[in-house]
Amino acid sequence: MNLERFPRHALTFGPTPIQPLRRLSAHLGGKVELYAKREDCNSGLAFGGNKIRKLEYLVPEALAQGCDTLVSIGGIQSNQTRQVAAVAAYLGMKCVLVQENWVDYPDAVYDRVGNIEMSRILGADVRLDTSGFDIGIRPSWEQALQDVRAAGGRPYPIPAGCSEHPLGGLGFVAFAEEVRSQEVGLGFTFDFIVVCSVTGSTQAGMVVGFAGDGRSDRVIGIDASAKPDATKAQILRVARHTAGLVELGREITDRDVVLDTRFGGPAYGLPNEGTLEAIRLCARQEGMLTDPVYEGKSMHGMIEMVRRGEFPPGSRVLYAHLGGVPALNAYSFLFRNG
Ligand SMILES: Cc1ncc(COP(=O)(O)O)c(C=O)c1O
Repeated sequence: MNLERFPRHALTFGPTPIQPLRRLSAHLGGKVELYAKREDCNSGLAFGGNKIRKLEYLVPEALAQGCDTLVSIGGIQSNQTRQVAAVAAYLGMKCVLVQENWVDYPDAVYDRVGNIEMSRILGADVRLDTSGFDIGIRPSWEQALQDVRAAGGRPYPIPAGCSEHPLGGLGFVAFAEEVRSQEVGLGFTFDFIVVCSVTGSTQAGMVVGFAGDGRSDRVIGIDASAKPDATKAQILRVARHTAGLVELGREITDRDVVLDTRFGGPAYGLPNEGTLEAIRLCARQEGMLTDPVYEGKSMHGMIEMVRRGEFPPGSRVLYAHLGGVPALNAYSFLFRNG
C-alpha cells in the first residue's frame, strides 16, 4: 500500500483516541467489548468530523491549483458543508455552499440552527436549494462553480461527502493505518469496525485500508441513506478507485463491501424509534452523544447486533464515531422530554 505518495495537509489534532465503552458493553451483556474511535473530536475546526480527515488529502491539490474558493454541497444540516466552511476560513479561502432540501423535516428552525448556523458564522456563502436527497452531482452545484468563475474566482469543487472526488477515499485509508498502529500499543486487534455510510467514501477508504491485513469485510457499514443500493454501489466504486491510487495490489470485489440495510429507515435524515433509543442509551451509559441522521443509526446497528448475538462472544468491536452532533440542535423537538 502506498499512501505516502499523496500529500496530506494536517487539519486534525493527530491520531484520534480509542476509548473503551465499558458501561455500554456491560449493559449489553458483557460478551462483546465495544470501543469508539473519536473522529467526532478529531479537530478544533468547528467541531471536526469525518470530512476533516478526508479534506486533509484534498487541500494540497486545492492549494497547488491556486484555487481561492471551496465549493461544496449537502443537505441543509450537512456536516460536510460545515467542515468545508471551517477549513476554508482556516486557510483564508472563500467558501460557497449549496444546501439542498435532503430531509423533509418540519422543525421551524431547521435551516437556522446547528450546522447551517455554524457555516454562516464561518463566513460561507450559504445557498438554499429546494432539490431533494441525492448523493450524485447536481446542477445547482455546477451553477455555484460557474458563478465563482464568472466573478473571476478559482473554485475548488468538493462534491457531497467528498465521495465523488478522486482523492475522497484516501483519508479513511489513513484511518485504517492509524488503527493498525494503535493496535500495536493496545496489544490486540479489532475483530469488527462499525461505520455509518451514506455517500460512501468513509467506508470505501476503510475497506481499502483494512484490506491491507485481510479485514475489509470486517468493516460493517450501517446504511443511513435508506437508499442502500446507490450507497453500496458508490462504496464499491470509490473503494476500487482508491485501491488503484494506493496500489493495494488486488481488486476490491463485492464481497469486500458489507452494508447492513436494517437500520437506515424511514428515510435519510429521519430517525426511527431504534435510532432514538440508541442515542439515549449511548448518551446515558457513556456520556457520548450521537445524532439522528448518521451516528445514531450506526450506534443502533451496533447495539442491535450485540443484542442479537451477531458478534461472536469475545469480539472486540470498534465503533467509528464520525461526528454529526451539531445537527442535534435541528432535532430539538424529538428530545424535548429527554
Ligand atoms: C456524522 C457523519 N457520519 C457519517 C457520514 C457518512 O459518511 P459517508 O458520506 O462518507 O458515507 C457522514 C457524512 O455523510 C457524517 O457527516
